[in-house]
Amino acid sequence: MNPRNLFVTTALPYANGAFHIGHIMEYIQADIWVRFQRMRGATVRFVCADDAHGAPIMIAAEKAGKTPQEFVAGIAAGRRQYLDGFHIAFDHWHSTDSPENTELSQSIYRGLRDQGLIDVRSVEQFFDPVKGMFLPDRYIKGECPKCGAKDQYGDSCEACGAVYAPTDLKNPFSALSGATPELRSSDHYFFRLSDPRCVAFLQQWTRSNDRHGQPRLQPEVLAKAQEWLGEGAAPDEPGGAAVAGGKLADWDISRDAPYFGIEIPDAPGKYFYVWLDAPIGYLASLKAWCAKNGVDFDALLADPTLEQVHFIGKDIIYFHVLFWPATLHFAGRKAPDRVNVHGFITVSGEKMSKSRGTGISPLRYLELGMNPEWLRYYLAAKLNSRVEDVDFNPDDFVARVNADLVGKLINIASRCAGFVTKRFDGRLGPVDADAHAAFSAGWAGADAVAALYDGRDYGKAIREVMAYADRVNEYVDARKPWELAKDPARAAELHTVCSTALRAFADLALLLAPILPATAQRVATMLRLPAADWSAIGKPLPEGHAIEPYQHLMTRVDPKQLDALFDLPEAVPAGGDKAAAGKAAAGEAAAAKASAGATKTAASAPEGTISIDDFGKVDMRIAKIVACEAVEGSDKLLRLTLDVGEERTRNVFSGIRSAYAPEQLVGRYTVVVANLAPRKMKFGVSEGMVLSAGWDDPAKGPGLFLLDVHEGAQPGMKVK
Ligand code: MSP
Ligand code: ZN
Repeated sequence: MNPRNLFVTTALPYANGAFHIGHIMEYIQADIWVRFQRMRGATVRFVCADDAHGAPIMIAAEKAGKTPQEFVAGIAAGRRQYLDGFHIAFDHWHSTDSPENTELSQSIYRGLRDQGLIDVRSVEQFFDPVKGMFLPDRYIKGECPKCGAKDQYGDSCEACGAVYAPTDLKNPFSALSGATPELRSSDHYFFRLSDPRCVAFLQQWTRSNDRHGQPRLQPEVLAKAQEWLGEGAAPDEPGGAAVAGGKLADWDISRDAPYFGIEIPDAPGKYFYVWLDAPIGYLASLKAWCAKNGVDFDALLADPTLEQVHFIGKDIIYFHVLFWPATLHFAGRKAPDRVNVHGFITVSGEKMSKSRGTGISPLRYLELGMNPEWLRYYLAAKLNSRVEDVDFNPDDFVARVNADLVGKLINIASRCAGFVTKRFDGRLGPVDADAHAAFSAGWAGADAVAALYDGRDYGKAIREVMAYADRVNEYVDARKPWELAKDPARAAELHTVCSTALRAFADLALLLAPILPATAQRVATMLRLPAADWSAIGKPLPEGHAIEPYQHLMTRVDPKQLDALFDLPEAVPAGGDKAAAGKAAAGEAAAAKASAGATKTAASAPEGTISIDDFGKVDMRIAKIVACEAVEGSDKLLRLTLDVGEERTRNVFSGIRSAYAPEQLVGRYTVVVANLAPRKMKFGVSEGMVLSAGWDDPAKGPGLFLLDVHEGAQPGMKVK
């Protein structure tokens, strides 16, 4: 078979924040696939970009006092450290706010228009007279038309779950300015997806196979697509096309100025809706890569052997299996070959949420000096080809890395390589052919592992590789090189055993190289072999082959590193429970910042004095404890459910278990610091801190006393 020619992308992250662990998981999944294909001889262009446009980024930039361009440039500048840190080898990182994307988006739009697939229609929408802009649904709030709950978003009610249009809200107001929005009409541009040509094309495209005879969509993704193309349900994305009467509804692809986006040709004041130009950013990034590398972009795209493969998460299927292929196809371009969808990463079973600051901070992971290949290995072990969520469980992480990766894999080399250097002048001896044959007798084989990588069944691939490692370890255990080494008469045997194990180890390192590229490279250097060549697997190592001295390949995870990653209160030096809990809650960084600030402002005041403004920064509120329970796995913490007068309750962990039984607290009122940054802990997220009194020095006496509140105070009242 000819080597494959691949154009691979991951979803373009919104340029409104740093990467979270979900992004990193997606990049690791795609990077493993790309590295595997390269090892097989494929030519791969692997690109991504920042998704820069849209109202939320424009608004975030304004809040930050920056132009949108400055704002996204700041985000882009932070990307490198994550990608390098986790060995994610994109060939190019671009931006959708780029000349390439402007040109491509406008030309693709013209292609659609030439096909008669663009319509202009008048649309009535809420307009913010103060901001002078039309409001996206999520920036309109008001009272639920069904249950009357206050402060609900424009699309659905968090209190009763009702779904409605923003125009149905009672007493609507702009979340940006507070102004009462006015209904105004304006011309919008629509991609006529309801055209029978589009429906027919998508029916055919979604169901067809790629050039390898494999379905282009996973079964569950195809089922979704058919549901949408059939009688269908409306997508939940704002700006998505509604599905009406068994066919796709037309897609509103324009937004009115002011909008951070690309101008629509021949339509003054109109911009492409961000989801029109975002996927075109895949092409823009490839084009920029081509320019940098002297490759003809148009010729590359026209190359019939080029396979276009997208890796995305389950929340953006709609855009990638309906809008995107139709956009490409009707603009006279080739639709994607494959769309590979993954599930979401959860942390200890909990969904991560940006606003609540949950999940694992990828940067903190790196800053703690944790090995990126631990995470690559762990996630790979849990990934498969289906759209299933993947859970990061700290205990499981420690077990898999230490027992499998280090205990099984690395252990082979660390038990054998040193003898070759010390006793045999760094040269391999003969391989025990019978033992070597026995390793692979009945074993799945490298081709089977390759098929699993190609099918993104990484978990199974790892299990197969580890089954091989188990056999090699059994051999080493049985032959005990450390015992042989004690008996000079058995030197030849020692040499054979170590050489046999190292030969197998070389294969193991190659089999795992897509997942562990840095380790594979170190092994290759040590064994003086190619690092990233799949065809080298199974090749014999000649007798007398010289190797480099064994160098340490990988350490074990220290469970304390996970405590630090999750910033557990247990990991904070104890100094009176609530003092520790308080410090932990504020976060070391925040505490450091606060004390730095204090020394600056305290120039004329005695040490430690703060201004009234400093005090005003602490938002203390009356809270009612509506529920309380002990936290399993912690002897210090209680989990409190607090009513702080908001539409939803808050979850707060407090280190007061030694002083109160949960049932003593339910129904009581207390004071909570409401504007502490949410803090993720092993057990969940803490969204505030309740105040209690106690001595810093436990010798002064026991005690931990929750603050009480005089009768009459209501949840949510400010303490000042
Ligand atoms: N900007 C759009 C994508 C445009 S593609 C032309 C977007 N950005 S995103 O930053 O919200 O998400 C980027 C990718 O991260 C998506 O594939 C999304 O599914 C993925 N993930 C977001 N949260 C995730 C998890 N918790 N777990 C795994 N992947 C997740 O959508
Ligand atoms: Zn409601």
